[in-house]
Amino acid sequence: MKLELKNVTKRYGEKTALDKFSAELSEGVYGMLGPNGAGKSTLMNLITDNIKRTSGEILYDGEEILEMGSRFRNKIGYMPQQQGMYDSLSAIDFLYYMAAIKGIKRKEAKAEIERLLRVVSLEKEAHKKIGGFSGGMRQRVLLAQAIMGKPEVLILDEPTAGLDPEERIKTRNFIKDMSENMIVILATHVVSDVETIAGNIMLIKEGRLIEMASPKELTDRVWELEGKNKDREEMNLEDVYMHYLEK
Ligand SMILES: Nc1ncnc2c1ncn2[C@@H]1O[C@H](COP(=O)(O)OP(=O)(O)OP(=O)(O)O)[C@@H](O)[C@H]1O
Ligand SMILES: [Mg+2]
Repeated sequence: MKLELKNVTKRYGEKTALDKFSAELSEGVYGMLGPNGAGKSTLMNLITDNIKRTSGEILYDGEEILEMGSRFRNKIGYMPQQQGMYDSLSAIDFLYYMAAIKGIKRKEAKAEIERLLRVVSLEKEAHKKIGGFSGGMRQRVLLAQAIMGKPEVLILDEPTAGLDPEERIKTRNFIKDMSENMIVILATHVVSDVETIAGNIMLIKEGRLIEMASPKELTDRVWELEGKNKDREEMNLEDVYMHYLEK
């Protein structure tokens, strides 16, 4: 599994939302950190082919994803940032509906949906209407549809947005547990969402990839750059975020 982004650029008129973005991703969790407007959702929309790129290449195992078409789309799971929810559907009906959209046969869908409901701990609420769900439960239903069919590439755009701390931690743990043998890209501006679960952090600012390394490597780097004027143990990814993105 290898996802390569080569000089990926996206312009909206005069505005460059993504500027010659290059990175190589293999199995693991990638935390994409950046402030509002940095280009996180734009990058995700390009990988999922929801919008057209201006230039550059995106390759999966060496093949251009636009040429792979549905062969690539079948390998990705996506949880978008803005989502209309189907409040009048029950969790299980929503998942059957998504299975139909993804072209999964009803017979196969049954076992898969049972698995998904277990993964996100919604077995008991399966037949309740989404309209009555808490924010965390809604996010879990959306996570379930994203991992339906065991994707190789999982794209999560702010999966913990709007959740209280307890739900945030729960959701984070679900993501951690479900993310084996996949390339997971998780966008957020909340450092603690990715600090413990991401092997790699991508720092994004104004459409550019500023740094990409493990949380430890980045923290070491910033500690040195700031003249080691603090105990190393006192520093964490929050300091890295402040150093690169808030100035
Ligand atoms: N459809 C569009 N038309 C024009 N400009 C757009 C469009 N979509 C995004 N942009 C601009 O592109 C830039 C990147 O936006 P994007 O949504 O990718 O940022 P983001 O990092 O996901 O931000 P957030 O944290 O707020 O979700 C922003 O300046 C935004 O205003
Ligand atoms: Mg966004």
